[in-house]
Amino acid sequence: MKLKIAVLPGDGIGPEITQQSVKILKAVADRFDHQFQFEEALVGAVAIDLLDNPLPEATLELCKKSDAVLFGAIGDPKYDNDPDAKVRPEQGLLKLRKELGLFANIRPVKAYDKLIDQSPLRPDRIMGADMVIYRELTGGIYFGEKSTSEDGKSASDLCSYTTEEIERVAHLAFQAAEKRRKKITLVDKANVLETSRLWRKTVKEVAKSYPEVALDFLFVDNAAMQMILNPTQFDVILTENMFGDILSDEASVIGGSIGLLASASTGEKNALFEPIHGSYPQATGLGIANPIASILSAAMLLEHFNLTKEAEAVRNAVELSIQLNVCTQDINRDNHYTTSKVGDFLESLISEVDQVRINNENLNLGQMTII
Ligand code: IPM
Ligand code: MG
Repeated sequence: MKLKIAVLPGDGIGPEITQQSVKILKAVADRFDHQFQFEEALVGAVAIDLLDNPLPEATLELCKKSDAVLFGAIGDPKYDNDPDAKVRPEQGLLKLRKELGLFANIRPVKAYDKLIDQSPLRPDRIMGADMVIYRELTGGIYFGEKSTSEDGKSASDLCSYTTEEIERVAHLAFQAAEKRRKKITLVDKANVLETSRLWRKTVKEVAKSYPEVALDFLFVDNAAMQMILNPTQFDVILTENMFGDILSDEASVIGGSIGLLASASTGEKNALFEPIHGSYPQATGLGIANPIASILSAAMLLEHFNLTKEAEAVRNAVELSIQLNVCTQDINRDNHYTTSKVGDFLESLISEVDQVRINNENLNLGQMTII
């Protein structure tokens, strides 16, 4: 298969982790005989520094004409600490999502057996947790009208949704549930918010087309509690933009590190793949950032194009690196590997799969030899 992939490394650790997933995609292309063509473009704080624009026109054009976008991370403390900044890196990502029509954001979350003790949550609570969050991505309070009064003493962000916006993401969530454990939880705040009541009504209607899928409802405050009390109850979670943003960071605690969580954002035409974590500016250039979230996002990219065995090869390699503890310091505190060493290891697992026999002794010495 021929794929044109736009690579947007972005800010902070974005470039170093994205470099690893490009490496992995190249290894996949070699092994499975595909042609992946990569082209880089600027986004975020680096784009503001150079061009005064968090999403330069050339970047948007490149993304529109590519088959997929591989996105790194966005954000810089100099903007986080300045609420008056008019131009912000995050505007680049939000505009990109809107312009590409990426209305569904898909975030799988699971507890890896090997990492069960990494989570601050009790192992008996999280063992076996395996869910996917379907977050609406181009509507709601993120994109409603924004205003600040002239005297600067009041501000407002409007939250609005249409039935069409709810239906299209709901259908994708139900289709996913049909292939999984056939359960959807709609997370909303229907006891207070008008938009949430529209979500409930609309999703109940959509559910009629999927008789095999059980639908239940949780208010978002309760869902936040259930997420850590009893996460194994969840299969597919469907929710609006901001609730999904918050709940997915919370859910990452189950996996033991936010550095493991991947995501896909899809629409009618385009698709973008990015880790759910941010730009982690304190870690920039130190080689300590976990590349797995970005690499698993690359696996979701492969899956999106029905390259199932290719995606499987990447996921298997990641599982093995976790089994063998060839991991960065967020997971492997005592004997950790750098960002690029983890990338190299996964790359060799994919390229040299037929000859792989892990030499544990060398692994312990940090040489990660594959013989
Ligand atoms: C995410 C991020 C973004 C969001 C930010 C960077 C705008 O937190 O993808 O979860 O809020 O959607
Ligand atoms: Mg977020």
